Amino acid sequence: MLILGIESSCDETAAAVVENGAAIRSNIIYSQIATHKKYGGVVPELASREHLEKIEDVVDEALKKAGVTYAEIDGIAVTQGPGLVGSLLVGINFAKGVAFAAGKPIVGVNHIEGHVYSVAFEFPPPEYPALALIVSGGHTNLFLIPEPEKYKLVARTRDDAAGEAFDKVSKLIGLGYPGGPVIDRLAKLGNKRAIIFPLAEIKEKDGSGLSLDFSFSGLKTAVLRYVRENQIEPVADPNHPSEQILDLCAGFQNAVVRALVRSLRKASERYRPRTILLAGGVACNSELRAAVQKLADDFKIPAYIPSPVFTTDNAAMIAAAGYPKLLRGECAPWDMSADVSLRLPNVDVEEAPKKKQRYRL
Ligand code: KG4
Ligand code: ZN
Repeated sequence: MLILGIESSCDETAAAVVENGAAIRSNIIYSQIATHKKYGGVVPELASREHLEKIEDVVDEALKKAGVTYAEIDGIAVTQGPGLVGSLLVGINFAKGVAFAAGKPIVGVNHIEGHVYSVAFEFPPPEYPALALIVSGGHTNLFLIPEPEKYKLVARTRDDAAGEAFDKVSKLIGLGYPGGPVIDRLAKLGNKRAIIFPLAEIKEKDGSGLSLDFSFSGLKTAVLRYVRENQIEPVADPNHPSEQILDLCAGFQNAVVRALVRSLRKASERYRPRTILLAGGVACNSELRAAVQKLADDFKIPAYIPSPVFTTDNAAMIAAAGYPKLLRGECAPWDMSADVSLRLPNVDVEEAPKKKQRYRL
């Protein structure tokens, strides 16, 4: 089954052709980073305008590279949400137009579910239950997946997303947008033990103890305070940062990674997953990748950590997530529209039994 995937939820205009949910025939990504860089973040109005300009060329290129026509496609999968409304609408309306003209079925895909499927191209199907940590500029979620297409939200951020924290700290110290790649690079040159930022302790809302949720706004404030108290000047030349900046990058990144992995470890103890998945733009982070791999090794289970081209926003993952739906014969109604706060339905899952105590006689 050949699926055309279309993604336009944020600042990437992307189209891909994927065969049977796993084999990439083409994967075209047009990034708008150059447009938004000078504003220090994504400007929604500019994003939707640029999607509109690029979408036709990007989809044409995906079909051309795959060597197929619209007539040879079996179905279309498009991101329905969450994301920026103007951006989402460009992809959805283009996809609907194509589906109507070519007489093909169309399904709407949840962008976060798309990220879960970004492991489909380089790894065998996961063993379930799986734990999926989805970390990007807009989202920070930890899901337990008891079986394909069923999700239980185990932890989420109470404030900023992890990528957002990277971007805000980067802006604060003059390293620009996006912050993740540059902080990752500079952190390797710094000493992560020079500045130890404490992790947020988040209580369960019902007072029943500590939550697995994340919080990054306190960390951002701690970095701001550190910068002020130590009179650290913003970086003038990112190729020659001071030692203080390198240590700050290393300490900040280490705090984000510790917070993410602490929760992943607790969830692994609680639910005993058979696979760990890592996805979203922040999954490019070298320290996070190594820490998640180490955690999986400790639990003796595989970690599926995709190549960077699949962890950042792309349309191949949307096509892969749409595959089981189109295979079942699903087809969205013509009045399908963008849903900026689309959620995955939450299923109930019991905790794994605690490991049996062994008594020595
Ligand atoms: O998934 P993505 O492309 O778009 C969203 O859906 O948000 O993620 C972009 C985010 C940005 O916040 C960027 O700073 C972050 O991913 N990012 C990284 C790295 N590369 C990208 N964060 C940490 N380390 C990286 N190497
Ligand atoms: Zn994303």
